[in-house]
Amino acid sequence: MSSKKRIVKVGIIGAGGIAKQHAWGYQKCPDAEMVAVCDTDKSRAEAFAKELNIPEVFTDYKEMLKKADIEATSVCLPNFLHGPVTVDALNAGKHVICEKPLAHSVKDGVKMVETAKKMKKTLMVGFHQRFRGETQVLKQFIDEGALGKVYYAKAAYLRRVGIPAWGQWFCLKEKSGGGPLIDIGVHALDLTLYLMGFPEPLSVSASTYAEIGPQGLGFWGTPCKFDVEDLGVGLVKFKNGATLLLETSWALNMQGDSESYIKLYGTDGGAILDPPTIFKNQKNILTDTKMSFPKVEPYNLEIANFIESIQENKAPMATGEQGLVSLKILEAMYKSSTSKKEVFIK
Ligand SMILES: NC(=O)c1ccc[n+]([C@@H]2O[C@H](COP(=O)([O-])OP(=O)(O)OC[C@H]3O[C@@H](n4cnc5c(N)ncnc54)[C@H](O)[C@@H]3O)[C@@H](O)[C@H]2O)c1
Repeated sequence: MSSKKRIVKVGIIGAGGIAKQHAWGYQKCPDAEMVAVCDTDKSRAEAFAKELNIPEVFTDYKEMLKKADIEATSVCLPNFLHGPVTVDALNAGKHVICEKPLAHSVKDGVKMVETAKKMKKTLMVGFHQRFRGETQVLKQFIDEGALGKVYYAKAAYLRRVGIPAWGQWFCLKEKSGGGPLIDIGVHALDLTLYLMGFPEPLSVSASTYAEIGPQGLGFWGTPCKFDVEDLGVGLVKFKNGATLLLETSWALNMQGDSESYIKLYGTDGGAILDPPTIFKNQKNILTDTKMSFPKVEPYNLEIANFIESIQENKAPMATGEQGLVSLKILEAMYKSSTSKKEVFIK
């Protein structure tokens, strides 16, 4: 497919699990060209470059930022590296799509957002689920007022057995920032905030537990060192009066293998995301309207949106500022769990 727009040259930092999704997205995007990949694991970077036909390989991202002919970069690194590497890339004049969560700490997240603003560069967060057909269809109806005022929401991303042990960093607080809340809960939280129109958070009250992982149970793969939660639950209150209940686990003695839902309740209607359905009470006549939705490849659409936002100098679908809102809520949830108190968000 040819395009009249300028080609955006990109480099990928981190050649692990998620980086492939970015690479396939760039391959599918007629306006993007992958010219470099960097991983501290040289053989992994080389294998990645070979498989995806990327000409240049680096093991030091600073060198890649200096030497490679790139305008943009994908940051596909463990969470604790999102902040420093993204800030370096932005300061080097590159646009950045950084994987979720925005960072492992609010401190780093603030620096990322401020640097993008200072450098006038795009900072997008890898919330690919926003691009799902289900999300886009429901969002359209909600934005047109189908639910009225949304005053209550429930969101969950629960796994019975699903502690990610690969890479050895997911389960270490210092490197990940936390367990399921910051890893998969962040997807449920972001989707809910997005569908609700990003109401401003006021406070959270939360509890986290580490009960299954420390027994050496619930892991995907060989159990590894584990100092994060395996279950996080919390209540988020918003300044507009709305409330959200969030629950997320990597390991839980629950019925079934997993459970995910986003449920919204408004004055004029309620909705669930999967499958996208709207529930109404019209003159005491109850209706459930299931919506059809396009079958799409969310990661490819995400990458195409990143490239388009650079070409057209417009905000991407998932901004750094929005990623920071989720991060503030999640960090407040961890603080609330430790202090056993409601935590107010600034
Ligand atoms: N959007 C999603 O649904 C989704 C899914 C999986 C992972 N992720 C996110 O993607 C990020 C990466 O996760 P992953 O599963 O790919 O992890 P991973 O451990 O598979 O890959 C990380 C890679 O980074 C490399 N690396 C580490 N330090 C580096 C450095 N200083 N310079 C260059 N390379 C370095 C490692 O060698 C490894 O290859 C995480 O933030 C994770 O939360 C998002």
